[in-house]
Amino acid sequence: MRALPRVAACGLALLLAASFAAPSSAGRRGGSRWGADYFPNVPLTSHEGKELRFFDDVIKDKVVALNFIYTSCPDVCPLETARMANVQQILGDRVGKDVFLYSISIDPENDTLEVLADYAKRYKAGPGWVFLRGTEDDVTLLQQKLGLISEELEDLSQHNLSMVIGNQRTGRWMKRSPFENAHFLAEQIGGWLHNWSKPSLAGNNYATAPELRNLSDGETLFRTRCAACHTIGGGDVVGTVPLNFGPDLLGVTETRDLRWLQRWILEPEKVLAEGDPIATELFERFGGITMPNTGLSAEQVNSVIEFLRGEHQRLTEPRTAKAPVEHSARGSEHGEGHLAHH
Ligand code: HEC
Repeated sequence: MRALPRVAACGLALLLAASFAAPSSAGRRGGSRWGADYFPNVPLTSHEGKELRFFDDVIKDKVVALNFIYTSCPDVCPLETARMANVQQILGDRVGKDVFLYSISIDPENDTLEVLADYAKRYKAGPGWVFLRGTEDDVTLLQQKLGLISEELEDLSQHNLSMVIGNQRTGRWMKRSPFENAHFLAEQIGGWLHNWSKPSLAGNNYATAPELRNLSDGETLFRTRCAACHTIGGGDVVGTVPLNFGPDLLGVTETRDLRWLQRWILEPEKVLAEGDPIATELFERFGGITMPNTGLSAEQVNSVIEFLRGEHQRLTEPRTAKAPVEHSARGSEHGEGHLAHH
């Protein structure tokens, strides 16, 4: 059955990213364990039709981010691909020069070069981000070698992670979660994997770093599962990259029926498959990209909706009586009385 490897590689990865320690120590010993004799040099074809070898052409002496996807995947692949697009955006023209991004299809049967080229275009893949296909056996072997297939997969809901970042030269490899903050991911790929020999990323500073306040569940979920594709009010949710693969969500809690929203966020693929008119219209408008099932529970869906509603209020409410109150609480001219008491 094809379903198993697909889902296993591309299902929802709820586990936290675990770095595997072995590669870095192997790297210090010269990297032979994770060198040419470790990685299979299998043939792959790029979405632009180039014939490549995995070791020689794809990873040798490079800093790379690799993920395994299939284009008809309804859940985690679109999110992960959008995240890869975020990383590409942050790293800018370093992609293709000292950082290389690869998305390898695990469904060579359906993901023909044409399909992959189209997918690459939809997700705005620039030079240095290459979609690849090979035979099913070769791709499975790559997944195994990269530690992305676990023997202990008992339950398909316990999916494995499908992104790996690494520096082949130093032998430093790490699994990443598709729900990771794109800025953090880009910093790891662009800085840490280069042993910080490159300057820190432009724009990646304290100003753009996520604030360390306590985030609500809804906001955390929005940042990790939604912000790779959606903005709220056109703006960047702090620490994310606005790319707008989907519609802006400002006011969606007002324009859509609550039950429709709940169901759509919970299982968009079903709503669309049923021919729901709103979903169909949106799908046509947003062409190639479909809203993925992000694996939220009903309760989590409600937290996200709550967050969207709050953002709508925050961003649209005129600045009312609240502002002067805050001001006077802080302002010393009104604070005399208080101070006098102490
Ligand atoms: C991979 C990109 C992607 C991700 C991730 C994603 N969406 Fe979407 N979303 C879309 C696209 C594209 C559409 C437009 C409909 C379509 O083409 O399927 C959409 C549509 C929507 C709509 C309908 C908007 C309207 O005008 O009615 C809502 C609401 C929504 N998404 C919420 C979310 C939430 C909440 C999350 C996170 C839990 C999320 N989306 C994650 C791409 C994404």
